[in-house]
Amino acid sequence: MNSSALVLAAGAGTRMKSSHPKVAHKMLGKPLVRWSIEAARAAGCTQVVTVIGHGADEVAPLVADTQTVLQAQQLGTGHAVKCAQDLLSSQSGSVIVLNGDSPLLTAETIKEVLSTREASGAGAVVLTMEPADPTGYGRIVRDAEGHVTGIVEQKDCTPEQAALTECNSGVYCFDCQLMLGYLDKLSTNNAQGEYYLTDVLSLMRADGHLVEAVVAADPNEALGVNSRRQLAQATKIMQRRINGRLLDEGVTMLDPDQVWVGPDAAVEPDVELLPQTYLWGSSSVASGSVIGPNTRLTDTSVGHDCVVEETVAIEAVIDNNVSCGPRAYLRPGAHLCDGSKAGTHVEIKKSTIGKGSKVPHLSYVGDATIGENVNLGAGTITCNYDGVSKWPTTIGDNVFIGSDTMLVAPVNVGEGALIGAGSTITKDVPAGALGIERSQQRNIKGWAVEHAQKLAEQAEAKKRRQ
Ligand code: UD1
Ligand code: CA
Repeated sequence: MNSSALVLAAGAGTRMKSSHPKVAHKMLGKPLVRWSIEAARAAGCTQVVTVIGHGADEVAPLVADTQTVLQAQQLGTGHAVKCAQDLLSSQSGSVIVLNGDSPLLTAETIKEVLSTREASGAGAVVLTMEPADPTGYGRIVRDAEGHVTGIVEQKDCTPEQAALTECNSGVYCFDCQLMLGYLDKLSTNNAQGEYYLTDVLSLMRADGHLVEAVVAADPNEALGVNSRRQLAQATKIMQRRINGRLLDEGVTMLDPDQVWVGPDAAVEPDVELLPQTYLWGSSSVASGSVIGPNTRLTDTSVGHDCVVEETVAIEAVIDNNVSCGPRAYLRPGAHLCDGSKAGTHVEIKKSTIGKGSKVPHLSYVGDATIGENVNLGAGTITCNYDGVSKWPTTIGDNVFIGSDTMLVAPVNVGEGALIGAGSTITKDVPAGALGIERSQQRNIKGWAVEHAQKLAEQAEAKKRRQ
């Protein structure tokens, strides 16, 4: 059956003490609100609606693949749902309501809540949990038979209710149309003066509708991120979840606590991840490669049997058997072909380094196309920018470039050419030629010895004068 998901993401998140809306804060490189949206999609929700409000300008682009509705004033979770009622008016089945600040929730758990409602025909199913510290969460109130009768917010609890340990995760599955009918019955007659979505459950129950609960197997799943402490806590839990899976799949880590892999990164078996490695975005690493230490790859692919050490790479493509670093910086559009090398203190931007070609030390390569089996000597620089525009450099196969060469673009070096060390190349070098640009060297016989003598005599004379 098709079902909808409604993600509540309009709150300010004052406890974050941030100038950015809470749901835009990232966990392992992904904004909090995206975790909820993607979990809902993975659980099979065909329609996803996001309620945005606080910091809407910043949140809207993050949720552009969903239907969005603006809650201009945040009057509570019940009011947030009401803002979305028009978008949900054609949903005759289930709607899952999620908070935009619960990034540890899995698609499996959402499916369980959904299937519980669909099997029982309940008006509402709430996901509950028993967290180590229930402070701040709404408490689940059950009757003598164990049926859920309602949810009481911490601030509205009697001391007796505050002692209850079963809490509301903020995840619900409702009979969509039935739930919408209750929104006008909510009041702000509570400690926070807000329209509470949680009150829908007690109202349904009072009218004789079935209200059910699913107890989360792992209380961490519904951890709400309301503060920086909770963000760090959630990040640690997700890091352990992802790294645990990778270890099970055959990835080696010297210390899994010092490796951060984002949810969309792919790592094959027989990869080794060394400490202080970060794999963000859509990065991928194929088998046999060793990444780290001190390496951050963002939206970068690495082929098999590479060594990528102390490297920062953004939107780069690294093919197979490539050696990179220590201290390499690959910027967008860098492409290192099979068997190539970007060595130490090397920066490469929007350039292809052909098969077997090497840029071993202290170089900048920008807007360049380098053929196969090329060697760039230490300190080779493509001068690609004239202060106004960027210009290309092309280097043919089997070229040898001596150290400390400036290639002033636009410039072409033909196949098999050789460039003398220390040259500033401003004109094309034909295939097979020697390009050399340097002044003649003079050797003056005995000059250094005589010079040293002269200095010694001057020092002696100065001493005598004193
Ligand atoms: C809510 C629940 C509480 C539950 C907890 C779980 C209510 C009344 N309380 O409390 O029982 O234990 O979640 O984490 O629902 N939001 C809006 N518009 C608003 C208010 C909130 O979109 O007007 C969004 C927030 O951005 C957030 C979510 O709804 O993503 C929950 O709001 P929050 O203020 O964090 O609720 P809690 O007090 O945590
Ligand atoms: Ca919350």
